[in-house]
Amino acid sequence: MTRKVFLVGDGSVGSTFANDLLQNCKVDELVICDVVKERPQGDSWDLEDITPVTGQTNIHPGEYADAKDADVAVITAGVPRKPGETRLDLVNKNVKILTSIVKPIVDSGFKGIFVVSANPVDILTTLTQKLSGFPKNRVIGTGTSLDSARLRVELSKRLNKPVASVNSMVLGEHGDTSFENFDESTVDGKPLTSYSEMTEAALAEIETAVRKKGGQIISHKRATFYGVAMMLTQIVSAILDNKAICLPLSAPISGEYGIKHDLYLGTPAVVDGSGISQVIETELSAGEKAKMLNSADKMQEVLASVKL
Ligand code: 2OP
Repeated sequence: MTRKVFLVGDGSVGSTFANDLLQNCKVDELVICDVVKERPQGDSWDLEDITPVTGQTNIHPGEYADAKDADVAVITAGVPRKPGETRLDLVNKNVKILTSIVKPIVDSGFKGIFVVSANPVDILTTLTQKLSGFPKNRVIGTGTSLDSARLRVELSKRLNKPVASVNSMVLGEHGDTSFENFDESTVDGKPLTSYSEMTEAALAEIETAVRKKGGQIISHKRATFYGVAMMLTQIVSAILDNKAICLPLSAPISGEYGIKHDLYLGTPAVVDGSGISQVIETELSAGEKAKMLNSADKMQEVLASVKL
């Protein structure tokens, strides 16, 4: 069986993802598609030069028709945030772009799994499912995987512990209403809240630092791509290798946490060869549950304003 990935969006996130994927996962064919026609050819030529080290992969530019027999279609295409913009400011521009992408992919006969990282990711993942009519488990968004990585890095630095010993997640919207599951987090197997440094003020500071990190990176280098590209790689390799790993993602909500809306939101979920095989309703304190509901309400408000 050929392991084929179809990538739409060859900007900084897309090309970094292509590079990461080839280095971390066996892929037989990688098709790169972008509105800027020269770039996928240039990137294909550049990326094929790593294959003597990473292994045989047929990398080439392509059209939507090439999605037909792909296992995964990754959508990174969209207008990125400018300094000072929120992810939600992008919604109208990126919904238009998304619509122009999802329909031709479906028309190609694509039967694989959509993975979305373009922002606002929870909104665009929800709409990818609606536009495609695909089963919900076959549409996944990067969601709060990146925020969770940032949180683990921040806690690791503050507590001077290896990042691998930090077990903590950001949940809800990948955006301004996200929140940390501090009450259930552990470091070195001990509750985070049992560390004397982790006062309420420190936790609030951490929450703000994590939420603002994307914007801060953008203000320094105009884009963020290494983090999200690695999250995409983790998801796509979990699909191709049927790994069944649990990650905080933008996953389909059907009543979890008492949410009444039909949307995708950041929650732990298991990813394997079938896509999302399980949405996990993780234990949350009452305060955290209220934040999850608030995040869902905010996403619903935005979704209601979107015209497809
Ligand atoms: C990030 O958080 C911009 O959503 C992107 O890095």
